[in-house]
Amino acid sequence: MKILAIETSCDETAAAVIEKNGSEIKILANVVASQINIHQKYGGIFPEIASRAHVEKIIPVVEQALVCKKHTKVWSTKQSVTQALQKNVAQALQKNVAQALACDKPDAIAVTTGPGLIGSLLVGVNFAKTYAYVKNLPIIGINHWLGHIYSNFIGKSQISKLKSQSKIPEFPSLILIASGGHTGLILMKNHDKIQTLGETLDDAAGEAFDKVAKLLGLGYPGGPAISAAAEKILNPKSEIRNKSQIPKIKLPRPMLERSDFDFSFSGLKTAVLYKIKELTNNYHLKPKIFSAALAAEFQQAVIDILVGKTIQAAYQYRPKSICLCGGVSANKELREQMKKAVEKLPWKTSYHVPPIELSTDNAAMIGIAAAYHLGPKTSWDKINANANLKL
Ligand code: KG4
Ligand code: ZN
Repeated sequence: MKILAIETSCDETAAAVIEKNGSEIKILANVVASQINIHQKYGGIFPEIASRAHVEKIIPVVEQALVCKKHTKVWSTKQSVTQALQKNVAQALQKNVAQALACDKPDAIAVTTGPGLIGSLLVGVNFAKTYAYVKNLPIIGINHWLGHIYSNFIGKSQISKLKSQSKIPEFPSLILIASGGHTGLILMKNHDKIQTLGETLDDAAGEAFDKVAKLLGLGYPGGPAISAAAEKILNPKSEIRNKSQIPKIKLPRPMLERSDFDFSFSGLKTAVLYKIKELTNNYHLKPKIFSAALAAEFQQAVIDILVGKTIQAAYQYRPKSICLCGGVSANKELREQMKKAVEKLPWKTSYHVPPIELSTDNAAMIGIAAAYHLGPKTSWDKINANANLKL
């Protein structure tokens, strides 16, 4: 059976085709249209503009997924904001709908129903409902966090870039989700027993990266911007040659001393703000070195918290596998430091992290989650978007 999966919970319009053949699950297509260029000007996501961009991109993206099955494709939405606003969205929909409906027919449709930005979710959910109604297909509503969890359950893939992961995590599995909207530790005993051990009490890890990047004037999205700035300090071949110029900065590691599995990142962000004030008053630093040093220490503080909490939970629950997922799992330092920490555990535990293309938002993970959670068939009128959907 072929599942067409749709994801529009935030600022990526994504569609994928997943094939399920008995227990074998395969990614046939994975298409993502990113809105980064549009939101960069605002230093963050502008929800109304995000939903308008989804309306424009949803049908071409689905069409690409259904037609160009062998490619993983990333589009960048290059239009200016004014163009996006002025464009008649209804016209865009009409123009492409006939083509999309004429494509290969999937056997089911999966869609992210929440959590996320309601205006963005509504575009994907209503597209999926219309598609299911017109084609008379069953529809599967998928929680976005469940999708991130399943980004580590790829199995086979027709796409060479997504082939790096051959083994599926064994249960019980301990899963760290770190994204822009959520951070939490999950214990998965089987596909239906998914327990939240702890979660963020305020900002998510990715949100902290985005806010700190803004404070440091590094741009949006913050994660890649912070890690690029930190690289100037961490990379021995970096342009900063005179190491004595690098200020010594120490930031706190909130919640790390506590024995529960909750997180809190807003205090860390405030600590960065105070450090910026303190350092600008006391030093005559070159701004590049100053922001790189702060970025490196901030990144390390987040990594220490994420790795530290995961390892604490591992000692308590003794999982057979440990998985990292969500947009922040694209962070190279985090991927490597978590791997080293897992390898040091005194019992055998496998470590799983998705290929970078499936770390940030995509529809393949939604389709894989659906393939494992097919359940009783639902019709289009039973599915609704819910911005605050819980796992
Ligand atoms: O999972 P995701 O694509 O969307 C949500 O579900 O929120 O995560 C997006 C988040 C953003 O906050 C972004 O700054 C962060 O993931 N991110 C990173 C990196 N790449 C993306 N954070 C740290 N390092 C990265 N390389
Ligand atoms: Zn996400």
